[in-house]
Amino acid sequence: MSHQRSILLVTNDLGPRAGGIETFILGLIDQLVIAHRAGGQIVILTSTQPGSEKFDQDLMARTGVVVIRDRAKVLLPSPRVNRVAARIAREYGCTTVWFGAAMPLAWMAGHLKRAGVKNLLAITHGHEVWWSKLPVFRQIFKQSTKSLSHLTYLGEFTRSAMQGAVSKNCTMVQIAPGIPIDHFVPSQKSKELVAQYDLAGKKVVVCVGRLVHRKGQDKLIEAWPEVLESHPDAVLLLVGIGPREKFLRNQVATRGLSRQVRFVGRVAYNELPQYFSLGDLFAMPSRSRLAGLEVEGLGIVYLEASSSGIPVLAGRSGGAPDAVLQGITGEVVDGTDVKKIAALTSRMLSEPERLREMGAAGRVWAVEKWSWQIWGDKFAQLLGL
Ligand code: GDD
Repeated sequence: MSHQRSILLVTNDLGPRAGGIETFILGLIDQLVIAHRAGGQIVILTSTQPGSEKFDQDLMARTGVVVIRDRAKVLLPSPRVNRVAARIAREYGCTTVWFGAAMPLAWMAGHLKRAGVKNLLAITHGHEVWWSKLPVFRQIFKQSTKSLSHLTYLGEFTRSAMQGAVSKNCTMVQIAPGIPIDHFVPSQKSKELVAQYDLAGKKVVVCVGRLVHRKGQDKLIEAWPEVLESHPDAVLLLVGIGPREKFLRNQVATRGLSRQVRFVGRVAYNELPQYFSLGDLFAMPSRSRLAGLEVEGLGIVYLEASSSGIPVLAGRSGGAPDAVLQGITGEVVDGTDVKKIAALTSRMLSEPERLREMGAAGRVWAVEKWSWQIWGDKFAQLLGL
């Protein structure tokens, strides 16, 4: 196999753990594999995670990439990891190195450049926003971008938040997560799931996301008694797992909402579209935290919902509004304001015809603007493929 166009990906976010960055990186790998068919190798240096053996075998069998797990649980830009990455780049003849999340790994860029790597680029998500704002971290961020040819951003919000901290040598390019529009397709509600969760004839609001503060499942639960006043049959389905689960379950129990709020847990990727399709509305009122340092970078789930033909209620946090056409594919709400969340949810549920229109518009927008083909082609070009 030719090593001429071999690429090394250095990342902490690969799987088996699931989250937005992992979804994004795996999607980009798939796109590169398609663009890369003529030859060359994609090598991935990543950290150790429980259960990774089977995940790696499947990934390698499916895509032909090589996965190398470092012994570290979190890959940090230490001198040892610098040496490991430089050795792998040499061994596989990788002239391009791609960092799956810019910070902190792109701090390695200077070392790898001196070790002979010609082309270095990094992807940003949401957390680079705080790196670009806090003193000291901002300096590290800027220094890291000096050796990068390109730094990617998700949308207008993250671009403008970071740009002042990016070195002039480094070009900013938008690379957003594409959506697998053939996977997330509009479909009827699954009869089995409707029966399983007792949803027949009920209005269903679905939320898919890690159970963490920022995603705002707590505010949805707080808003639910008020939603029930105008829609006594409304059910909230929470898909996902996370550290806030116990807190959220307590919230539901103390409000006596166990019949109206259901915890689905983690759902396999193949089954996820069926869960989006159960919703008359997708709601995740994300909120910024830590004085605006922790924000939503974009919110892939809003776009997965749109691609599934489901209208969206998003939170006004960071780049989340970039994932909604307000008043067309959905609405945006202040995720700290329970009254507004309740009012908007109730109003949207009262207008089924309008919800259908928004869902249909979301599907069109996802296909035209967010398909993997669009972002995958752009990323492959950036890597010179
Ligand atoms: N299979 C499965 N099962 N997937 C899930 C589950 C589940 O139970 N829960 C969440 N996911 C998937 C969603 O389908 C989506 O693809 C991803 O995990 C979540 O992505 P985001 O909505 O974007 O949120 P994030 O906070 O994990 O991601 C961060 O990085 C993204 C990419 O840069 C945030 O900064 C996002 O705003 C950003 O879009």
